[in-house]
Amino acid sequence: MSVSERPAVHDWMNDFDVLEASFMHDPAPMYAEIRSQQPVAHTERWGGAWMPTRYDDVVSVAYDTEHFSSRDVGVLPFVGLDRENDRPPASPPITSDPPDHTWHRRLILPYFSPKAVERYEIFTRALCRELMAGIVAEGRHHADAAIEYAQQIPPRVIAELIGVPPQDTEQFVEWTRAVLENGALQPEARLIARKEMLTYFFGLLESRKRERRDDITSFLLDQEVDGKPLRDGHIVGTITLLLIAGIDTTWSSIGSALLHLATHPGDRARLVAEPDLLNSAVEEFLRAYSPVTMARVASADVELGGHTIRAGERVLLTFPAANRDPEHFERPDEVLIDRAHNRHVAFGVGIHRCAGSNLARMEMQVAIHEWLAALPEFELDPMGELTFAGGQVRGPRSLPLTF
Ligand code: HEM
Repeated sequence: MSVSERPAVHDWMNDFDVLEASFMHDPAPMYAEIRSQQPVAHTERWGGAWMPTRYDDVVSVAYDTEHFSSRDVGVLPFVGLDRENDRPPASPPITSDPPDHTWHRRLILPYFSPKAVERYEIFTRALCRELMAGIVAEGRHHADAAIEYAQQIPPRVIAELIGVPPQDTEQFVEWTRAVLENGALQPEARLIARKEMLTYFFGLLESRKRERRDDITSFLLDQEVDGKPLRDGHIVGTITLLLIAGIDTTWSSIGSALLHLATHPGDRARLVAEPDLLNSAVEEFLRAYSPVTMARVASADVELGGHTIRAGERVLLTFPAANRDPEHFERPDEVLIDRAHNRHVAFGVGIHRCAGSNLARMEMQVAIHEWLAALPEFELDPMGELTFAGGQVRGPRSLPLTF
């Protein structure tokens, strides 16, 4: 069904649509309406789902791994289910439940420690400076900050981490968009993208089996669990997860931060004058414009916010709504770049909390710092078209600026 063929939403409490244009553009007003009237909303659209909007409900679902499984974390239904298991293909650790989740996650953590992330900072900074040099080149007064900047950074950092050539990153972006962004509307293209992606990564695995390099693919090949090496399918599942989890999310966050700065000249000037605010500003952008919503599948009948969720039903982990809950954040709809208390859940909470948060924070900080260093004055181009992606990951996909 195309976007234009779907009926408009008249009742956000009982018929919400995560791909509705105004919701993708700015979901906060709908979250506020739902939270104040019927905090756990429901829809039959897109295969059906429940949507908690209170911080406490979202966090309680995330912690309750007994009643809520991660076997399908897609906000929108997966097409081309794994026939054998009737579930999407495994992408450990994000699709793993306890007890296996513990070792699935432990395997990748060494690559995401603060120390490990330092290694990618030099690379990221050089990349941002190179991209900015192109943007502020002689005679230019317009640029698309989403396409020319935000979208260029995470795929190349991930390519470095996985150990693949930078020229393959265009392909990574296409796969990520086909799988995450356009998958529900174009299921055939999603299946083709998945197939191509798997072929690519099984090929990479074979080449690393012949010759190890200094990358996470080689590292995983050398890991053992109970005296046995990991299955090829496990390694490829994890690598494709890193690609998908690391690209769209971070590019959306960088884009949302730049959109905020383009439309809030006071914050922009303050961040330029007080660069020490960068850390708290990044946390505030993550809170206010949280890009990621996940899902869980109820493994038994369970109560949530006065509703009975039946076994097999989908529940959204609406981290963006939790982060705007007035019970937990003062003036939740204001972006305060010096907010002191900010226990946001943009990176999730509980056992699946984002493994790449150190890397993501570093990328955001470096990207914003280098942008402002090269171009402190810019605004939204009124002649251009600002577009958004939404569903699982929300953020600007086209961000036309003038300077
Ligand atoms: C601003 C950028 C990012 C945001 C907002 C974000 C958000 C999240 C969220 C909300 C989860 C929890 C999933 C759940 O509960 O089901 C998660 C998990 C995860 N993220 Fe991120 N993420 C970001 C960047 C990254 C990056 C750069 C990587 C690494 C390449 C990464 C790797 C992962 C992994 C591996 C998991 C699964 C952890 C587990 O299941 O134990 N993320 N992320």
